[in-house]
Amino acid sequence: MSPERWPVLVTRRLPKPAMDAIAERCEITLWPEETAIPRDRLLADVAGKVGAVTLLTDMVDDELLDAAGGQLVIVANYAVGFDNIDLAACTRHGVLASNTPEVLTETTADTAWALMMAAARRVPEGDRFLRKRIPWVWGPEMMLGQDVHHKTLGIVGFGRIGHALARRAKGFGMKVIYYDVYRPTPELEQELEAEYRELDDLLAEADFVSLHVNLTEETHHLINAERLRRMKPTAVLVNSSRGPVIDEAALAEALRDGEIFAAGLDVFEKEPEVHPLLLELENAVVIPHLGSATVDTRIAMGLLAAENLIAALEGRRPPTLLNPDAWEARSRGTA
Ligand code: DGY
Repeated sequence: MSPERWPVLVTRRLPKPAMDAIAERCEITLWPEETAIPRDRLLADVAGKVGAVTLLTDMVDDELLDAAGGQLVIVANYAVGFDNIDLAACTRHGVLASNTPEVLTETTADTAWALMMAAARRVPEGDRFLRKRIPWVWGPEMMLGQDVHHKTLGIVGFGRIGHALARRAKGFGMKVIYYDVYRPTPELEQELEAEYRELDDLLAEADFVSLHVNLTEETHHLINAERLRRMKPTAVLVNSSRGPVIDEAALAEALRDGEIFAAGLDVFEKEPEVHPLLLELENAVVIPHLGSATVDTRIAMGLLAAENLIAALEGRRPPTLLNPDAWEARSRGTA
């Protein structure tokens, strides 16, 4: 690829350091609104581009890759999750795909922890209560929550963010159990003081369940009505992974019926919609997909996406490449 300014699409304005890093080497077509780029505009704007920086709201599939018109080298996703990207389609089209892992691990674990604490100790409910300006007086049984310290935390999906949560749990004297299809090394298990459980056993034993799985066909509705019934009535469920991992209607009913104590949710099944019943319930703590939303982390994600983009355009392997097969094919000159 020649060293002149490369035509790239950026589907939403990123933090300034990232925009600057991209602008230094590229001619940027930018969707300027604070909304997701409409599909027809996305398909039109990607045409003739050699790179695209996408968000989790942009579906990258055969249709988009066809619309790009054959020059596209890389789709650099500004997220660790990549369920919006059809990786097989990218590889078929010889297009590299990358994500932004590591840089958001601790921040997302903080979000899960904040949701757990807020839901267990009824923080948003107490805040809403005071704002109603209803006369109140301290009472022995007023707004009682659940202790977090020294309880059992069940982590479903024991990757980087799950490990970061386990480290936080140690400081709270919690017992940590986990479920994942991949087992960590015995050394890591020991370091994190985490014990493996089958999923259904974990749900029955844990006081807090936090979800950290990728969204795949296998994890869609992993937490359904039946699994919610396995949880303790005092349990708190936290989701900062992807909305469709939970059957949201089933969760809303379980919360309404007191089958579990509370839930802390950063993500939703049909984002940006939230199940209307959840919005009625005091025991549902809901925030708008803020898992990685800190100033530092969003800059770090943008810089990593920019680094992936520029590396690919310079013919180097992107540092956090998702489809090595496409890289091999490009290196062999068969893509
Ligand atoms: C991700 O990175 O996948 C988050 O959901 C967005 O920060």
